[in-house]
Parts: sequence; structure tokens; C-alpha cells
Amino acid sequence: MIRAYRGELLSVAHDPRDAGREAVRHEPDGLLVVEDGVVLDRGPYAALAARYPEPEVLPGLVVPGFVDAHVHYPQTDRIASHGEQLLDWLDKHIFPAEKAFADKAHAEEVAAFFCDELLRNGTTSALVYPTVHEQSVDALFEAALARRMRVVSGKVLMDLGPEGLNDTVASGRAGSEALIRRWQGRGRLGYAITPRFVLASSDAQLADAGALLAAHPEVLMHTHLAENVHEVAAVAARFPDAADYLDAYDRFGLVTRRAVFAHGIHLTERSCARLHESGAGVAVCPSSNLFLGSGHFDFGQADRHALRLGLGTDIGAGTSFSLLRTAGLAYQAALAREDRLDPFRALYLATAGSAALLHIADRVGALEPGQEADFVVLDSAATPLLARRTAGADLATRLFALQILGDERAIARTYVMGECAWRAPRPE
Ligand code: GUN
Ligand code: ZN
Repeated sequence: MIRAYRGELLSVAHDPRDAGREAVRHEPDGLLVVEDGVVLDRGPYAALAARYPEPEVLPGLVVPGFVDAHVHYPQTDRIASHGEQLLDWLDKHIFPAEKAFADKAHAEEVAAFFCDELLRNGTTSALVYPTVHEQSVDALFEAALARRMRVVSGKVLMDLGPEGLNDTVASGRAGSEALIRRWQGRGRLGYAITPRFVLASSDAQLADAGALLAAHPEVLMHTHLAENVHEVAAVAARFPDAADYLDAYDRFGLVTRRAVFAHGIHLTERSCARLHESGAGVAVCPSSNLFLGSGHFDFGQADRHALRLGLGTDIGAGTSFSLLRTAGLAYQAALAREDRLDPFRALYLATAGSAALLHIADRVGALEPGQEADFVVLDSAATPLLARRTAGADLATRLFALQILGDERAIARTYVMGECAWRAPRPE
């Protein structure tokens, strides 16, 4: 079935850092043609109108569905937990909450809320942490499958985790393999081997994760890297021979093009060079970095090394599901280190950049013909203040205002595979 949508279309398929303004594709009055959930054609309305009569008019700025490159669904109910930096926050607030995901019914209830919340925020694809429990992965994949969302996830490996939240080398391997067999490539789902972070796994488990990654070239590797200074010190104490934090992963074969490292705030020059050489990506998580007092991501350093970057909310250390809001915080984090994040580049990071980290950029992220038709309609008059600030403004001003002042209130509609999956309950 063919459907045509008329509206203002905007996408950024490549990093403007490398591709400049050529990366930005903008049709002020465009037509997006979708056949069976896939973009069939896209261009100026005037050029395509004769072929696709009577399109549906979309009320706002149409951008690709957001791609959250790092988020924890079991932490949904622990957002806004007060008082601690990373390691104490994990012990006090997060690990107790994650233990409850041994119960499949609880996992299902949270996974359903989480997926709906993603859609309400315009996020149609995500790389997601579940918990150590296999059933927590099943619950998430079932919820994503029912909503036709593109979700990549995998059982957390943490044989050094607290009681009730740990596995073993053998059970971690068996659970991961069973889940890969059950889910990899089903619907729009993908698997990621997910060691929690280097401190939560024994050397034997990290080595096994590396072996698993080598044995499954179709899956990703997803973990945390150099987020907090106390964490970095603990890694240095445990691995006195390692050159730096990244090197601790590298010795187990975990630094490859299919690796996604969240945070990467405190990186050595050496590890940036190694990330670039390997092609591994970094999910920048500014909301979380601010909330946990972890520091500000160094865009200048990352850009000097041409690192591959995406954007993550990192719920529940992150405080918003909105990648618009997260993009606005990325701007502020960059400026704190005297770097400038252009609003088009921020949109790239939240869409095609994150999609590239997840190795799904051929499928989503830029609304190009042949890609799946996941898109969001942004309402730059969603609040009185947004309306006032954007009235008569040019595209860059509107986009930046949406990132600084906007959040889920600015999501008028979310489409998944060409079908409306969320519509704001207000007159349009
Ligand atoms: N490092 C290890 N586990 C976590 C987690 O759950 N959240 C964050 N932000 N960092 C981590
Ligand atoms: Zn995280």
C-alpha cells in the first residue's frame, strides 16, 4: 500500500563535522511517499505532487524517528534518585531495583511502559540495557516486537554483581546464546552482548564475552566506558598493566567496529586513537553525565580523533526520555568545554549518528528512499514559549529552540514503519 505525506522534511544523514552543510537535507514543502512501511520516494511537493495526489498533510517539522544509543529500561522507575555519584548510586538505587526483574510479569509491565514512553518522545529505535535476567530481555523484545520498534538489546553479563543480580561465566554464555538464537534478526530486533562494565565481570567472563562476539559477527557489543573518576581509578587499580580503561576491554577482544561504549568522558588520547582505529562508537549521554556529576563529554577531543558518535538518554541516570532535550543538554555540555554543537549536528547525533553506531543506518535515521519510514512530527508551537521564540524564525533557530526548550511536549506524532504509533492528545 502506498501513502503520501506532505510536510516540511528535515534529515541529516552524515555528520556535518565531516560532510558540512551538504549533510542536511531539507524540503520546506516536501512529499514523503511510503510503500509497505518503507520510503519509496521523497522530494519537493511541487515535483512529486502529480504522481501522488491527495497526500496527508503533516502538521509540523518532520524528522527521522530518534535513535537512543544508550538507555536502561529497568531503571525507568529509578529516575530522579537523589544524592550519589555513579558507584554509590548503583549500589543504593539501581541494583535493588534491577533485582525485581527476576519476575517476568514485573519486567513485562515496565517494558510496556518504557516502549510507550519512547514512542511518546519520538524515539523509534534504541540500544537498551535490560538486567542480568534472561526474562528481562524476553519482556523487552516482546514489547518492542508488538510495537514494531527497532530495538537492540542483550542480557547483562555481571558475574561479579551483588547477590541476586549476578550470573556465572557459564550461565552468562548459555543465556546469551539462547537469546541470540531466539531473537537476533526477528522482526526489527537485534542482539548486543552486554557486559555491564569492566568492574562487574571477572576476567574469565570478559574473555568469554570477547569469544562470543567473535563467534557472532551479526551482533553488537554494548557497555560503559570511563564515566566517572572513581570508576576510572578502580579500573586502574584492578588492571595495573592496562594502558587505560579502554585497554582493559581491548585485551579481551571487546574493542571492535561493532562496539558501542556509553559515556567516554575521561578518555586518554591513546584510547581515542584506538577507538578511531577500531571503528568503535561512543554514545554521548549528557543528561546522565550532568545528573550523576560525572563530567562533560569532550567533543573537541572526540572530533580531533574523528570518533563515531551517537546520543543516549541513559535513563535512569539520564533524567529525560526526550532526545530533543538530550540534544539541548549536549549543546550545553559542549559549550562548558568551549566547543560548539550545531543544531543540525545534534539532530544527526540523535538520528543517523546513533543509527550508525547500532549498524542500522542502512535501515533508519535519514528518511532516504529504501529506508524504513520511522519519523516524527515536531510542533515548534507546542508551548507558548516555543511558539513565541520560533514565530517567523529560520530553520536553524527553530531546530535549536526545539532542542533547548522542547521535550516530549513537542512530539505531535510518531510514525513507525509509516503507521502512526503516537499522536499527542490535543487539537491540531
Ligand atoms: N556503569 C555500570 N552500570 C551502569 C549503569 O547502570 N548506569 C550508568 N550510567 N553507568 C553504569
Ligand atoms: Zn548506562
